Amino acid sequence: MESPAYRTSPVSFTRRGGRLTERQQNAWDKAADTYVIDVPGNGPSTSVDPSFVLDVPAVWGRSAPLIVEIGSGRGEALVHAAKEHPDFNFLGLEVYVPGVAQTLVTALHERVTNIRLAVVNAPEALQTMLPAGSVRELRIWFPDPWHKSRHHKRRLITPEFAKLVVQVLEPGGTVRLATDWEDYAEQMLEVVNGEPALVSSGTYAPRFPGRPLTRFEVKGMDVDREIRDISATTATP
Ligand SMILES: C[S@@+](CC[C@H](N)C(=O)[O-])C[C@H]1O[C@@H](n2cnc3c(N)ncnc32)[C@H](O)[C@@H]1O
Repeated sequence: MESPAYRTSPVSFTRRGGRLTERQQNAWDKAADTYVIDVPGNGPSTSVDPSFVLDVPAVWGRSAPLIVEIGSGRGEALVHAAKEHPDFNFLGLEVYVPGVAQTLVTALHERVTNIRLAVVNAPEALQTMLPAGSVRELRIWFPDPWHKSRHHKRRLITPEFAKLVVQVLEPGGTVRLATDWEDYAEQMLEVVNGEPALVSSGTYAPRFPGRPLTRFEVKGMDVDREIRDISATTATP
């Protein structure tokens, strides 16, 4: 049977297209073949063919701990972290193509070569594209808050999503979250505390020092919203 072209359940994003600036287009033409993973879809745009499993050592050309950032946006945090930790492999999952192109601009400028990007709907990538137990750290900085209650169903961080996080993390692997929306922070804490395979302090974590101030963090601070970090690890056997 042919896969449907449209999704029937809500996703955590709306826009994904938009024009590239000249710099972004140049970076894309120069670097996308190397840095943007060609992920086969399954009908809708940004979907992931469930039979596609990422060959991590082949894609990076080496075996190294894998750090995944979901919703890497324009790549500020991803490129910063990849530059700080050249011995780790970094993967950004982002649906917004101009953001991915901007990440390439910054990566080329910073001469960072240990990142890869995939233009995919992250939960689908966690479900089947990333091998189970393959991720040392999963980071999600300032996911779209979907603050109206009728839109809460679009929020990324849910109990079902936490199960996918647990599935991809290595034993002893870490998930780190940050948000400037109080009620989303409360939801995240509830989700993390409610997932038996995740171990955490039960409350908010100190600000993760490896995160530079991203655009969205600055936006939140500009309107006096408190930034809350959450982190948890999977149990070691
Ligand atoms: C509010 S922005 C934050 C961007 C960045 N983390 C920062 O702090 O500047 C949220 C990002 O998540 C991306 N996003 C939302 N849902 C996604 C999904 N299901 N899969 C991949 N990316 C997603 C959006 O396109 C957007 O770039």
